[in-house]
Amino acid sequence: MAIPLLLLLSVLLCLPHESTSFAVPNIRLPLPRSETTGEAQTVVSVTDYGASGDGINYDTEPIQAAIDDCSSSGGGRVRFPEGSYLTGTIFLKSGVVLDVEEGATILGAAEEDRYPSDRLRWYAVVAENATDVGITGRGQINGQSSAFVEEFDPRKNIMRSWNQTGKCLGDECRPWLVGFIDSKNIRIWDISLRDCAYWCLHLVRSEKTVIHDVWIKGDFDTPNNDGIDIEDSNNTYITRCHIDTGDDGICPKSASGPVVNLTATNSIIRSKSSAIKFGSGTVYNFENFRFDNITIFDSHRGIGFQLRDGGNISNVVFSNIKISTRYYHPSWWGRAEPIYMTSCRREENSGAGSISDVQFINITSSSENGLFLSGTEDGLLQNIKLTNANFTFKRWTNFQDGWVDYRPGCRGLVRHRTAGMILEHISGMEMENVRMRWSPLDLKGWNNPIDFTPSTVNKITFKNFQSDIY
Ligand SMILES: *[C@@H]1O[C@H](CO)[C@@H](O)[C@H](O)[C@H]1NC(C)=O
Ligand SMILES: *[C@@H]1O[C@H](CO)[C@@H](O)[C@H](O)[C@H]1NC(C)=O
Ligand SMILES: *[C@@H]1O[C@H](CO)[C@@H](O)[C@H](O)[C@H]1NC(C)=O
Ligand SMILES: *[C@@H]1O[C@H](CO)[C@@H](O)[C@H](O)[C@H]1NC(C)=O
Ligand SMILES: *[C@@H]1O[C@H](CO)[C@@H](O)[C@H](O)[C@H]1NC(C)=O
Ligand SMILES: *[C@@H]1O[C@H](CO)[C@@H](O)[C@H](O)[C@H]1NC(C)=O
Ligand SMILES: *[C@@H]1O[C@H](CO)[C@@H](O)[C@H](O)[C@H]1NC(C)=O
Ligand SMILES: *[C@@H]1O[C@H](CO)[C@@H](O)[C@H](O)[C@H]1NC(C)=O
Repeated sequence: MAIPLLLLLSVLLCLPHESTSFAVPNIRLPLPRSETTGEAQTVVSVTDYGASGDGINYDTEPIQAAIDDCSSSGGGRVRFPEGSYLTGTIFLKSGVVLDVEEGATILGAAEEDRYPSDRLRWYAVVAENATDVGITGRGQINGQSSAFVEEFDPRKNIMRSWNQTGKCLGDECRPWLVGFIDSKNIRIWDISLRDCAYWCLHLVRSEKTVIHDVWIKGDFDTPNNDGIDIEDSNNTYITRCHIDTGDDGICPKSASGPVVNLTATNSIIRSKSSAIKFGSGTVYNFENFRFDNITIFDSHRGIGFQLRDGGNISNVVFSNIKISTRYYHPSWWGRAEPIYMTSCRREENSGAGSISDVQFINITSSSENGLFLSGTEDGLLQNIKLTNANFTFKRWTNFQDGWVDYRPGCRGLVRHRTAGMILEHISGMEMENVRMRWSPLDLKGWNNPIDFTPSTVNKITFKNFQSDIY
């Protein structure tokens, strides 16, 4: 056990940094005595505190007592040996790493009275105002999403919502799985997060987070089970993750502050919505994002931007991205676009923001729809650069095409002929070595490479642009 962990740590600290413009946050978390030459750290097991691990009786209190003791004695590890630990919300405290061992599951409650009265703390596991915290151990944290399904439907499940509490409205009144709020120095690794009733992993106003070798698996028919949501948080590094969820895979949002420095590499994402999505909560700015070596498949959208609330997005690089997108039932969010960038006011009185300095390098895609790049008069897309890209277009599902989607808000869903690339309200677009290939068999009359909305597109450069029927 000691050697693999140390190896992992050194691998992490030696990851190549060339393609990232900020270093991997150097996070050192408490390690048990056997793994360090330094000071001894506390290692406790939840079973020593009376946790049953039978998956039937609630273990909330013993788990919390183990965490509290471990934290107050200077931090260390809290072990979950093989077993199933049913629990209401547990609060992770400073200095503590949860070690959910292979064969162990933390099972989040499906009953509302097991969660705190404050809706913002509805998580199975949450750290708040904590530093040097982590979750690892090769086991899993499970949100029992099927217990939240009112009616299974392969098109889209109808979910049970705790909206009768009055604490939230609509059908999104469900608990998150794991959260870090106002926390710092966070590491989540070698763990699987499964069957989230709502978002799986949520960072809120947090700083310095490394997420690696995490396997996130939601129910593909369950709405709103996002993979990783990075909200108002800085310096986040995601690598070697596998995310498979009904809703957005990696999703930065801003509500009470900016999102700065996010890097995601070497990961695989499948989503019935957007694999990568900015927004739609976009009140503050987003700066300095890198995505490299990401494979997106079976998704409803590949890379998505939904700027709606007056924040600006700038300095984003996507490199070495493979994308496959298709249509799903129209009740889901997406129109099979490999790349979709929209900036518009959510409502008339919302702010307007712009998206600038975004580069796409080495992109290949196979998709049922083209790219949709759409700014507005007061929310331009500026300096967008596409270098070395191969887009293949064909149809393989029978869902209807011929719509452009400005939702949420804005102009809604609008009938529009499909094209390889729809461009509106753009200032500065450079394309170099861009190739579109069309399948002659399943195009159904769709082979218009570029659709410009006249007089809204300015400063366009093409170098080696090609479009062929193959
Ligand atoms: C973002 O990363 C850059 C480069 O490493 C660093 O100089 C800057 O301080 C970081 N920003 C924040 C808000 O931490
Ligand atoms: C957050 O933690 C710091 C340091 O542990 C403490 O001083 C502060 O009171 C805490 N704030 C809240 C809101 O809990
Ligand atoms: C509560 O949630 C149910 C199930 O998702 C939904 O049908 C209903 O419209 C919601 N009611 C309110 C008041 O939000
Ligand atoms: C992120 O960095 C910005 C400065 O760029 C700062 O205003 C904000 O408070 C930082 N957020 C956190 C959670 O540290
Ligand atoms: C790209 O990511 C995949 C995992 O998705 C990994 O197997 C592969 O080694 C990575 N390639 C490079 C060049 O790092
Ligand atoms: C976005 O940019 C515009 C134009 O520069 C600016 O007026 C606005 O304040 C910016 N928004 C934020 C949240 O900083
Ligand atoms: C793009 O791909 C080429 C050929 O594989 C490679 O040499 C180059 O480094 C890649 N560019 C980036 C920014 O990764
Ligand atoms: C695009 O296709 C061309 C021709 O097959 C190939 O040489 C090039 O490497 C491809 N580029 C990418 C980024 O896949």
